[in-house]
Amino acid sequence: MKFFLDTADISELKQLVKTGMIDGVTTNPSLILKSGGNIYEVTKEICAIVTGPVSSEVTALSAHEMITQANKLCEIAKNIVIKVPLTWDGLSACKHLTDAGKMVNVTLCFSTNQALLAAKAGATFISPFIGRLDDINLDGITLIEEIRQVYDNYNIKTEILAASIRTPNHLTQSALAGADIATIPPSTFKNLIKHPLTDSGLETFLKDWAETGQSI
Ligand code: E4P
Repeated sequence: MKFFLDTADISELKQLVKTGMIDGVTTNPSLILKSGGNIYEVTKEICAIVTGPVSSEVTALSAHEMITQANKLCEIAKNIVIKVPLTWDGLSACKHLTDAGKMVNVTLCFSTNQALLAAKAGATFISPFIGRLDDINLDGITLIEEIRQVYDNYNIKTEILAASIRTPNHLTQSALAGADIATIPPSTFKNLIKHPLTDSGLETFLKDWAETGQSI
């Protein structure tokens, strides 16, 4: 499974890239707002840090304007993935952009039919939003399971990018459901490693080792 970081925070990104486990980055207009930076500058910095796919979202509503914005964003770096919303115009822009050889991430996916449409439009990535479904008492993991099944039924190559991951358990469940990638906020990524038995076990080993008086 590939791990993307869901962030536009450069210092968090720099810190977590050092783990060697970050395969890409996703951003969105809310994350750009949170970063306090300019979309071109922030995205350029991200692309200089990460060699894998970096999703940058268009903000226009018509396909024509989305394509104009996409072409500008693609100039930032070679690893830019254009993020379009799951609307008819978004899908039309997706088809146009993927036909032109660009990578496209279709975002704001909340149903299996939407995921099928995105695949039909040639999407490189489909982003089902797990946490936002959980927020309204629906099941985001079932959505990933369904998308996995229908994509496998038709040998669809669009990659399932589990998004809106809010907890370590969301990651486990997404992996079990067969997502290809998960995009994870930095705070959640840092929590993935935590287990109290690891901490207490290590403490005991170090204490007992000290008592042996030995060195390696
Ligand atoms: C994905 O690409 C989105 O940027 C993100 O995962 C949305 O997460 P949220 O629902 O926690 O805002």
